[in-house]
Amino acid sequence: MFILRELERGDIPAINSWRRNRALIASLGAPFRYIGAEIDEAWFDSYLKSRGNTVRCAIVDGSLSEDPLIGLVTLAGIDWVSRRATLHIMIGSQSNQGRGAGTFAVQEMLRHAFDDLGLHRVELDVLEDNAAAIHVYEKVGFKREGTRREAAFKCGRWVDLIHMGILSADY
Ligand SMILES: CC(C)(COP(=O)(O)OP(=O)(O)OC[C@H]1O[C@@H](n2cnc3c(N)ncnc32)[C@H](O)[C@@H]1OP(=O)(O)O)[C@@H](O)C(=O)NCCC(=O)NCCS
Repeated sequence: MFILRELERGDIPAINSWRRNRALIASLGAPFRYIGAEIDEAWFDSYLKSRGNTVRCAIVDGSLSEDPLIGLVTLAGIDWVSRRATLHIMIGSQSNQGRGAGTFAVQEMLRHAFDDLGLHRVELDVLEDNAAAIHVYEKVGFKREGTRREAAFKCGRWVDLIHMGILSADY
């Protein structure tokens, strides 16, 4: 039912609407910013030039005839010497969360990282109060590796970031 495919230019309007959603961005480590369409066009152009160290995939729900694009999952900053990368994910609308797409997309991206790209380690940071995301990451094999104290300023307050990682041997 769910598939990953590479991000396309036509996906930008949906992603831009997600990035303008304060409630969604509140669950990410990154700060909320007002992001116009041109900025996301430039962001996509920059991705096309950095495919050597970034993988951006759309999460698609094939059972939805309207708006099958439901999320975005990324392996960013691939370091080909240490063979590690950072994972980011978002399911764009609340109605599509809790339906298994996040678990699928993280597992599929780990398979790509370890079985296709030969990476050794995938890591991420997650807000300490994002219990659903931490649950998904632990379920697929990520381990908590430390706390980055008050590393994120979110919605007017400081929040700890939990650093998590998974090695190819854990996978
Ligand atoms: C976090 C996110 C990627 C998870 O994807 P999803 O498709 O909603 O997750 P799934 O449906 O695959 O799985 C959710 C799991 O979390 C569990 N869960 C939900 N709320 C929870 C909570 N408050 N505490 C603990 N576990 C919770 C569910 O029971 C389910 O676990 P199970 O499969 O073992 O029953 C998605 O909700 C999302 O994009 N959220 C907003 C952005 C975000 O937080 N991104 C991650 C930033 S690090």
